[in-house]
Amino acid sequence: MNCKLQKGGFEDYAGDALIAFTYQNENRYKGTLKKVIDNAMKSGRFIGEKNELFQVFPCDDLKSGRLIIVGLGKRSIADLDSIRKAAGAAIKAVRKLKKVAFVSIDDSRKTLSPMIEGALLGSYRFDILKTTKKKFELNRISFFSGSPAIGQVQIDRLQAMVEGTLFARDLVNLPANILTPAKLAAEAKKLGRENGISVKELSEAELKRLKMGALLSVGKGSENRPRMIVWEYHGGRKNDKPIVLVGKGVTFDSGGISLKQPQGMEAMKGDMGGAGAVISLIPVLGKLKPKINVVGITPLVENMPSGMAYRPGDVLTASNGKTIEVISTDAEGRLILADALVYAAKFKPKMVVDIATLTGACMVALGVHICAGVMGTDQQLIDQLVKAGDQSGERLWQLPLWREYGELLKTPVADIKNSGGRFGGAIIAGSFLSNFTDGYKWAHVDIAGMDNEESGNHPYRYKGGTGWGVRLLARFILNKAGVK
Ligand code: BES
Ligand code: MN
Ligand code: ZN
Repeated sequence: MNCKLQKGGFEDYAGDALIAFTYQNENRYKGTLKKVIDNAMKSGRFIGEKNELFQVFPCDDLKSGRLIIVGLGKRSIADLDSIRKAAGAAIKAVRKLKKVAFVSIDDSRKTLSPMIEGALLGSYRFDILKTTKKKFELNRISFFSGSPAIGQVQIDRLQAMVEGTLFARDLVNLPANILTPAKLAAEAKKLGRENGISVKELSEAELKRLKMGALLSVGKGSENRPRMIVWEYHGGRKNDKPIVLVGKGVTFDSGGISLKQPQGMEAMKGDMGGAGAVISLIPVLGKLKPKINVVGITPLVENMPSGMAYRPGDVLTASNGKTIEVISTDAEGRLILADALVYAAKFKPKMVVDIATLTGACMVALGVHICAGVMGTDQQLIDQLVKAGDQSGERLWQLPLWREYGELLKTPVADIKNSGGRFGGAIIAGSFLSNFTDGYKWAHVDIAGMDNEESGNHPYRYKGGTGWGVRLLARFILNKAGVK
C-alpha cells in the first residue's frame, strides 16, 4: 500500500473517495464539510454514531469522486480506539476503489496515528488459499493533516507496524497442514534474509543436546518435528543487554492424548499466535531500526496424539533440570515455553517478555477480544507493557502472581506438575512459567482469544487472525528505544 502524508487542502484531492470524521451530533468543520454534515444531520439520515457511514457522490466543491463521513460516536465517550475503528469501518467500505484519502479530525498527532492504523489494519485480505481472488483495487491512501509535528516518517513507522500485524494475521490464518513448524521456521529465516537480521534455527538434535525435555516431549506425537527459532536484532551498542521476546509456537493444538473436544478445534491452528507476533517483528525492526538490542525466541511444535505422543502421568525434565509431572497434555504451551525461557537466560537479558495463547481461563477472566492478561515478576516492566498496550490499542490487564497460586502446582511425584485445576487457570499457568525465569526480570502476556477474531464484526479486524501483539510489542520496544 502506498501511504502518503498530504499537507495541502483536501478540496483539490482528485482521488476516488475522501473520508472525514465527525463526533455524534457535532459539526466542527467549516466550508464544504460543514455544509454536507449539517444537511445530513438535519435530514435525520446521519447523526455520527460510532462507525456510521454517510456517502455523498459526487460532492459539490470537492474534486474527489465521493465524500464519506464516518461517525465517531459521542465525543464524551470516544477514545483513540474509536478513531481506529471508524477508520477501519470506512476503509472496508471503499476496498473496491483505487485511491482514497482521509482528512484528520483535529490535526493533532494523537488522533492521526489511530486514523492511519485503523485505515491500514482494515485494508487486509487473506486470499492466499483462494483459487479465484476477488478484485482488490485499493493501492493508495493519502492522509491530510496540517500538523507540523507529523512527517512522512511517522506514517512510514505506523505502516511498518501495521504490515507486521497483517503478516502475523496471515500466519494465524494459515492452516496447520501448511504452516508446520518447519514452514514457520522457513518463513522466519526468509524474513531475516530480507531484513538483514540474523535468524538461527535450532534443529531437534540441538534441542536434544540442550536437554529441552519439556519442549521435545510435546513434539513427540507429531510427524512435523519441533524446532526453535532464535533471531537477534542488534540496533543498540554491542554490550547493551537485549530485550528478549519469547513466543508460543504450537502450529496445531489438538490437546494431544488429553484430546480437546472437536467443536471449534480448527481454531487451534492459531495456537502459534505468540510466535507469529514475535516472528512478525523481524520486518518491523528491520525497517524502523530502533537503537536497541532485541532477541526473539520461538519454540515451534505440533501437539498431536499418536503412539509416540507424551502422556498424562509422564515426568519430563526441562533444560534447567526441573522435573515436571504431566497432568494434561493439553497444558503444552507452558511446557514448550519453559525450555524457551531457560534458553533466554543465555542472552543475559535486560528483561524477558513472553507472549502466548496460553489458557482458556484467561478468556474466562477477561473476556474475548477486549484485553489480554499480563503478569510477571517485575512491576516496572509490567507497567511499561500496560502503557504500550494503551498506546497501541492492544490493551493489557494485570493479574496477580501471588505465591499461593504456585502452591497449586505441588505434586508428590515431581518438582511441579503442569496443571493446577480450573480455578485461576491463567495465573497458575503464569506461576508455572515463573519456575523457569531465574536471573532476569520477566513478564508473561496471555493472548488466548485475542489472536483470533470469531465474529468478523470488528471494524479494523477480519474474521480469523488479528495479528494481536505485534503493535503492542513494537510500541513497547520503540518506547524503550526512546522513539516517539
Ligand atoms: N492453546 C490452549 C489455550 C487456548 C484456548 C487458546 C482457547 C486459545 C483459545 C492451551 O494450550 C490449552 O489447551 N490450555 C488449557 C490448559 C489446561 C489443560 C490446564 C486450557 O486453557 O483449557
Ligand atoms: Mn493445549
Ligand atoms: Zn495450546
